Amino acid sequence: MSRIVPDPVERYLAGLNRLSDPVLNDIAKAGTDLPLVDAEVGALLRVLATSLHATRILEIGTAIGYSGIWLAGALPAGGMLLTLEIDRVRARQARENFARAGLADRASVIVGDAERMLAKVAGPFDLIFQDGDKRLYSPLLDRLVALLRPGGLLVTDNVLWSGEVIPGYVEKPERDVEDTRAIAAYNEHLNAHPALMTAIVPLRDGVAISVKRSG
Ligand SMILES: C[S@@+](CC[C@H](N)C(=O)[O-])C[C@H]1O[C@@H](n2cnc3c(N)ncnc32)[C@H](O)[C@@H]1O
Repeated sequence: MSRIVPDPVERYLAGLNRLSDPVLNDIAKAGTDLPLVDAEVGALLRVLATSLHATRILEIGTAIGYSGIWLAGALPAGGMLLTLEIDRVRARQARENFARAGLADRASVIVGDAERMLAKVAGPFDLIFQDGDKRLYSPLLDRLVALLRPGGLLVTDNVLWSGEVIPGYVEKPERDVEDTRAIAAYNEHLNAHPALMTAIVPLRDGVAISVKRSG
């Protein structure tokens, strides 16, 4: 039972979602032991990227390419998703999945530690999706803001962390306590960041949407 969105509401939203497709469904089934976004967060990513007319997207934490396909599917020909993954095997599976989805020409999977690789990545990006190591969320925030264009969006997954970031809410926490502390600190940092305006959507595990202020 989800502590954030009641199960009947999750099922209702899943039933309404017309954007999912068979390739995405297969990938989700194959990666069930991985913490991938679900189709509702995927649809949110697709809608946000489409509404921005995004041509350059950056993702931290590719896994096997599930969220990446939702994002890259919003790109026009010539657009590019750059996605960073530390695990070589997952990165290879992601490349195969982008090819199966017909998106190999607009998704580039970079293998390596995001903390190191981000120094080499050049902006600006229209949208950045942060879904990598939770303890790196705060340390990477200023770098990601610098890579975002004014008016661009930083989307961060798992900011409610099964409700465990909410003091006193979860009787028997199951998540790694250091990760929980890192996300709670990040939420404060994100909401107070002078270059960002942030809203948190309590969908699935909590999604923060931050727009970079102009000027
Ligand atoms: C939550 S999963 C990403 C799920 C994916 N965004 C999706 O929804 O389809 C997080 C991924 O980040 C990767 N990761 C963890 N630490 C990393 C780091 N320092 N640099 C790059 N990737 C990292 C993990 O190997 C894992 O595959």
